[in-house]
Amino acid sequence: MKPYLLISSIVLLFTSCSAQQKTIKSGEIWLDNNGIHINAHGGGILFHDGMYYWFGEHKTEGERGNRAWVGVHCYSSKNMSDWKDEGIALSVVKDNPDHEITEGSVLERPKVIYNSGTKKFVMWFHLELKGQGYDAARTGVAISENVTGPFVFVKSFRPNAGFWPRNVKEIHKQPISPDVKGKYCGGKGCLPAHPDTVNLLGRDFARGQMARDQNLFVDDDGKAYHIYSSEENSTLHISQLTDDYMEDSGNYVRAFSDRYMEAPAMFKHKGKYYLIASDCTGWEPNAARLAWAPSVFGPWEELGNPCIGNEADLTFRSQSTFVLPVQGKENAFIYMGDRWTPKNAVDGRYIWLPIRFNEKGIPFLEWMDEWGLSVFYDN
Ligand code: GAL
Repeated sequence: MKPYLLISSIVLLFTSCSAQQKTIKSGEIWLDNNGIHINAHGGGILFHDGMYYWFGEHKTEGERGNRAWVGVHCYSSKNMSDWKDEGIALSVVKDNPDHEITEGSVLERPKVIYNSGTKKFVMWFHLELKGQGYDAARTGVAISENVTGPFVFVKSFRPNAGFWPRNVKEIHKQPISPDVKGKYCGGKGCLPAHPDTVNLLGRDFARGQMARDQNLFVDDDGKAYHIYSSEENSTLHISQLTDDYMEDSGNYVRAFSDRYMEAPAMFKHKGKYYLIASDCTGWEPNAARLAWAPSVFGPWEELGNPCIGNEADLTFRSQSTFVLPVQGKENAFIYMGDRWTPKNAVDGRYIWLPIRFNEKGIPFLEWMDEWGLSVFYDN
């Protein structure tokens, strides 16, 4: 072999080995192809045509950086380690202060799914109108023909207006008590009583249910679900989408009433449905919760904190945002969480850990400084 051929073969071998050995180091700065820390917080990943597309909140500097001044950022990768900046998939509106997604609004936890019927990519996110704190509690929907965008904002709304959930209680159909007419602070302990005894659902029946932290889940049969923190954050709603994924269908359940579940992330493993979520403590981390159910609509049963080891009670200083099924591997899922840095939002870090299953088949999370996809071989 000519010397230069030998050298280039060695270089090639070295590059392909190091490509295979790419690892994930949670909590560190993650550089994109331009050498800039990835800016896709509260995000989720869509696998499409052999590529992972990561969508998340583009944060900016300082505390104000938690509001939306830019939009939803998209990155692409084949191996989940090398991320290419694909630009802003959905931009906030800069020249119209009255627009629902005007700059300075709150646009959180964007998630994108693909509808094979309409051949459109559909983005859902939590929207708070500018200057109204977290009172609006709305859902936003945007659409695109291309996976990386540009997504076009379609509308924002409060879900399931005029529909009772499948597990509605008698109390919800009673006249609204004066207790729930006023505003609450939207956090834990804000309600005058248990949410099953104060009629928040009835209060919001006509104008639609409150929707803050949110996620989407697409089942094997193509049915998609919107999972959102509702009723002043006290109760989670799990809501089937219409076939075109553009709206909530009115077919939904209330779950985990009075548990103040936030940051919901659903996945399916061996025919069972799992949910990882958090408690409701703003940007401060808390202990994650795991639950499982035989069907999307329940009954849901809590299984406790899935984290073990040091800082398990703080979910390793993170809050869930998505569970990513690794393509081409059986039983391989990645927990994606955010380590928020509210004083300088753009510096937030990503905590990604493999979800393992114990001998009883129950998912758990353990801290790993550095890991690669090969951890899934022994699952
Ligand atoms: C968290 C929520 C985040 C963001 C934050 C604002 O509880 O999960 O998405 O809304 O509160 O304080």
